[in-house]
Amino acid sequence: MMVCEYQPGLEGIAAAQSSISNVDGQKGILEYRGIRIEELAEKSTFLETAYLLIWGQLPTSEELKEFEHEVRHHRRIKYRIRDMMKCFPESGHPMDALQASAAALGLFYSRRDLHNPIYIRDAVVRLLATIPTMVAAFQLMRKGNDPVRPRDDLDYSANFLYMLSEKEPDPLAARIFDVCLILHAEHTMNASTFSARVTASTLTDPYAVVASAVGTLGGPLHGGANEEVIQMLEEIGSIANVRPYLEDCLQRKAKIMGFGHRVYKVKDPRATILQDLAQQLFAKFGSDKYYDIAVEMERVVEEKLGHKGIYPNVDFYSGLVYAKLGIPTDLFTPIFAIARVTGWLAHWKEQLAENRIFRPTQVYNGLHEIAYTAIEER
Ligand SMILES: CC(C)(COP(=O)(O)OP(=O)(O)OC[C@H]1O[C@@H](n2cnc3c(N)ncnc32)[C@H](O)[C@@H]1OP(=O)(O)O)[C@@H](O)C(=O)NCCC(=O)NCCS
Repeated sequence: MMVCEYQPGLEGIAAAQSSISNVDGQKGILEYRGIRIEELAEKSTFLETAYLLIWGQLPTSEELKEFEHEVRHHRRIKYRIRDMMKCFPESGHPMDALQASAAALGLFYSRRDLHNPIYIRDAVVRLLATIPTMVAAFQLMRKGNDPVRPRDDLDYSANFLYMLSEKEPDPLAARIFDVCLILHAEHTMNASTFSARVTASTLTDPYAVVASAVGTLGGPLHGGANEEVIQMLEEIGSIANVRPYLEDCLQRKAKIMGFGHRVYKVKDPRATILQDLAQQLFAKFGSDKYYDIAVEMERVVEEKLGHKGIYPNVDFYSGLVYAKLGIPTDLFTPIFAIARVTGWLAHWKEQLAENRIFRPTQVYNGLHEIAYTAIEER
């Protein structure tokens, strides 16, 4: 049946059937494969959650050990990829560097054996393992330093923080970062996931799937809001300035960064978990005046906009956590990509299992039967 009604942004149109994640925006519930996000944040690790999302069920301890071992031993990037990255301009955005590097992986592993489970497993492992290495390598190289080799004795998140700073991270900082990755791993049919599924549906290789999704995530309407939250908190500068700043935004009808969500009409459950993580970080490493400003903002925004269902979203507290971990602001979105590659790969596999190439229609609103005008007559 041909449906020709145009819906801007495809709002309300189901682009796929999926059993990967589910959001109940009225109740503030997010589930990965049916398990509540709160439970995963408390009990799981990022790699275990990745396994759950990609293979559909929690691994046994043997399966998890094997998966962790494989990821741990595929973290190094080829020297030719590293050399290619050295030629990137240091003023370039790390998301652009990541997109180019993810696409370059496809040059080295170009076989497209999509019916072979070993190929699928290799691609999943390689992408999960090398994306953090590429993000950290670009960060060091743009400062003029050599990249740091991954450390096989460190877990996934501890190794990433080590590669960024060349220092072994505090265990609490590493655990909190790992939970941040769990919280960002998957979120139903958002723009980058849709992009991944469209690319997957052409049966191209998974590196192209991830590269196209990274490109989509990079836009300010999708992955970039937590960078803007930090800028806004800096601009506000003090608790006393929160109310006048917000009143001015509301008067100008400007959107307040880190608040509101297309699906959630209550506080995003990930924001609640992130707020708790931020408090744990500040309790151990010293408080942060921007956190106090953020709490006051949440109070005033709820008072002013709670009736419209505007509450903090995932981006409101994540920037505070990353900033406290010493991560530069323009790496926030690449870190989102490190986590979300999990969701993209889960959707890639799901798309392949029942593939039909995406080929929507359009509503043509142009002209017909126009005569060609010779160039000298235009
Ligand atoms: C996320 C977002 C795009 C969702 O947009 P949406 O579902 O289209 O929501 P709407 O624009 O329909 O908002 C409904 C109402 O709430 C208001 N609103 C929504 N988000 C708001 C915000 N962050 N600040 C102030 N008002 C907001 C809208 O102005 C609108 O008011 P109106 O009914 O008087 O016109 C939007 O909330 C936003 O831009 N938030 C800030 C950016 C951000 O944090 N993005 C990260 C998302 S995870």
